[in-house]
Amino acid sequence: MACANFVKLNSASSSWIGQKSPFGQRSQGSSIRRVSFSIRANSYTDELVQTAKSIASPGRGILAIDESNATCGKRLASIGLDNTETNRQAYRQLLLTTPGLGEYISGAILFEETLYQSTTGGKKFVDCLLDENIVPGIKVDKGLVPLPGSNNESWCQGLDGLASRSAEYYKQGARFAKWRTVVSIPCGPSALAVKEAAWGLARYAAISQDNGLVPIVEPEILLDGDHPIDRTLEVAEKVWAEVFYYLAENNVVFEGILLKPSMVTPGAEHKEKASPDTIAKYTLTMLKRRVPPAVPGIMFLSGGQSEVQATLNLNAMNQIPNPWHVSFSYARALQNTVLKTWQGRPENVEAAQKSLLVRAKANSLAQLGRYSAEGESEEAKKGMFVKGYTY
Ligand code: 13P
Repeated sequence: MACANFVKLNSASSSWIGQKSPFGQRSQGSSIRRVSFSIRANSYTDELVQTAKSIASPGRGILAIDESNATCGKRLASIGLDNTETNRQAYRQLLLTTPGLGEYISGAILFEETLYQSTTGGKKFVDCLLDENIVPGIKVDKGLVPLPGSNNESWCQGLDGLASRSAEYYKQGARFAKWRTVVSIPCGPSALAVKEAAWGLARYAAISQDNGLVPIVEPEILLDGDHPIDRTLEVAEKVWAEVFYYLAENNVVFEGILLKPSMVTPGAEHKEKASPDTIAKYTLTMLKRRVPPAVPGIMFLSGGQSEVQATLNLNAMNQIPNPWHVSFSYARALQNTVLKTWQGRPENVEAAQKSLLVRAKANSLAQLGRYSAEGESEEAKKGMFVKGYTY
């Protein structure tokens, strides 16, 4: 792969050192210390920027259905179904063949099994997505395990073999990736856990870009805890500062990534609830302090909020001017009513697909800042928070 030479701007002299300046002059001063280094140019850069832009397109967001088999099993168990490959396929088929989904959904995150699966009629799920102009994505992390030396915290596995896996996923049609690690406020968080989370995300992001996949960077700050919203803000600022520090150190192209942050809210067990306006104000304050405008899209996770709450908060976020595409990458907040409507019965598939479109459209309107919760069902208002939730 080609090598490109880059030089660091010397802030003291405000000139480009030892190279042609962008303004057509050469700096002369021999007393200036040269700082130069080279990094590999990524042949996928233009494509990555294009992919990220198309996912971050107006009025659209991401459908996250990348539950591991174990977590998908919990979803199926909630409606009395066994965790078999046939049932997982039937559920994913319902979601991915919803007519008109591409109007509101720009990307879908799949689990590995789904990326290689087809409908019962033999059409690849990847092709179902492409027909709706939806970009296929893939969860690439290998889940959380205890982090020795920490305060009962965890770290995310999956870097070993990631380059070759990513190259295979690209061949299969994936164009973006997701890596979810978590930070727990009640457990500290310890400096070690934050550093590990940030470093892992940055290595994953660099490897994904090297293989043509736009990385979704997701350090989920869990809702667990009884802390106030100011504490969440403090932790989120620290986490994102470290994440961007290491993303830069790993020469990740910011124009070719997407973020998946948690909203800044009080802990789930805090005595006071915050309004959508307060959550939007805190969340955007945090993002404006930490995220460069070069990043094209902020695709929030729902984290156990009710479907309506997640949509209301997103809508409030889009009332405040910001430099990004601020949108959704929800799993629970898009799937809850769908599952309840489906109940595993073929005769309910159409109604369940309609309920997916209702949620997708509501979030599309929220992305445009035009959503109202009028007429929403009681079911959609029920929270889904579970302590210590894994994915
Ligand atoms: P939710 O928090 O929206 O359920 O999803 C988290 C996630 O990472 C899905 O990809």
